[in-house]
Amino acid sequence: MSEKYNGKVISFINMKGGVGKTTLTKEIGFRLANTLHKNVLLIDIDPQINLTQSIFKIFGYAQTEDLAEKANIEESKNNNIKITEASIQNVLQGNISNSNPTKINKAILKIPNKSLSIIPGEFGLEFITRNLNSGSLENSIYNFIEENNLRRAYDYILIDCPPTYSSYTIAALKASDYYVVPVKPEAYSMLGVDMLEKVVEEIKSTNKPYFKDRGLKNLGIIITDVREKEKEQTGILNLIEDIKNSKILKGKGIRLFNNHFLHNSSLQRNMAYLIDNSNAEKYSKPNLTALTNEFIKYTTEG
Ligand SMILES: Nc1ncnc2c1ncn2[C@@H]1O[C@H](COP(=O)(O)OP(=O)(O)OP(=O)(O)O)[C@@H](O)[C@H]1O
Ligand SMILES: [Mg+2]
Repeated sequence: MSEKYNGKVISFINMKGGVGKTTLTKEIGFRLANTLHKNVLLIDIDPQINLTQSIFKIFGYAQTEDLAEKANIEESKNNNIKITEASIQNVLQGNISNSNPTKINKAILKIPNKSLSIIPGEFGLEFITRNLNSGSLENSIYNFIEENNLRRAYDYILIDCPPTYSSYTIAALKASDYYVVPVKPEAYSMLGVDMLEKVVEEIKSTNKPYFKDRGLKNLGIIITDVREKEKEQTGILNLIEDIKNSKILKGKGIRLFNNHFLHNSSLQRNMAYLIDNSNAEKYSKPNLTALTNEFIKYTTEG
């Protein structure tokens, strides 16, 4: 096994919904792979499977014949939707180990000609995993990464978390070195961060052996969906100032990313939009470039 990579595992998490977790996982992940030629694995552990739907739409995949047929009809220009059997389900159920490496295709879908892979989410995940012992579910991602030496195969493993607190969240955090917290510039957004910090402390203290040789560090807060024009408006600026000066950031020494993630309405309109592939040269592209560089810097510094 080569020592080529020393992969880092990073969860995108906030117990608040709709703050940009999925969008940032996808955009930062794609830029790392596409332009910066890093080996990237995305993991969709959110039962809403938004990340999976987006990646499947961009690269032409579906999980079943029925869905492939539907997608072929909807996108009449593209009649070659491919079917993949890769699914997070096989990871959570512990179906794959290094004793049978061919089985890894049942978890990881590698996008051809890209250094990008994804462990797709699964519709009905709660139903599928309902009989699993919560301990084995919570250890499953950690075990999968270790047993298959994935830190040697990827530079970055990015996990898109659900907005709820569940065994899925615990599974993601237990496997992670870092977590990134997207927040919207809203009055009570830091309450969610406070709650998340408590959850992380709890997970660390109840799983000490897992964190004996490594941390689970807050990489920083990213303020999302900031409108370029509103940046000049005192309302948003005040909210950003409030976040900067909040007790929770100062008290815990949590970093705030210098760059905020700018609003781009194409992200809402088009599930297949990718900033790194777009011609948004004025705002979004330089913004994603700067954000991704910050992200790389902090994961390198430790
Ligand atoms: N920078 C942005 N500019 C415009 N729209 C955005 C931006 N970031 C996210 N959005 C839109 O906001 C909505 C919520 O974003 P996203 O799905 O990434 O949030 P989330 O935190 O993953 O949500 P959930 O908690 O439901 O998983 C989506 O419609 C997305 O397209
Ligand atoms: Mg999401």
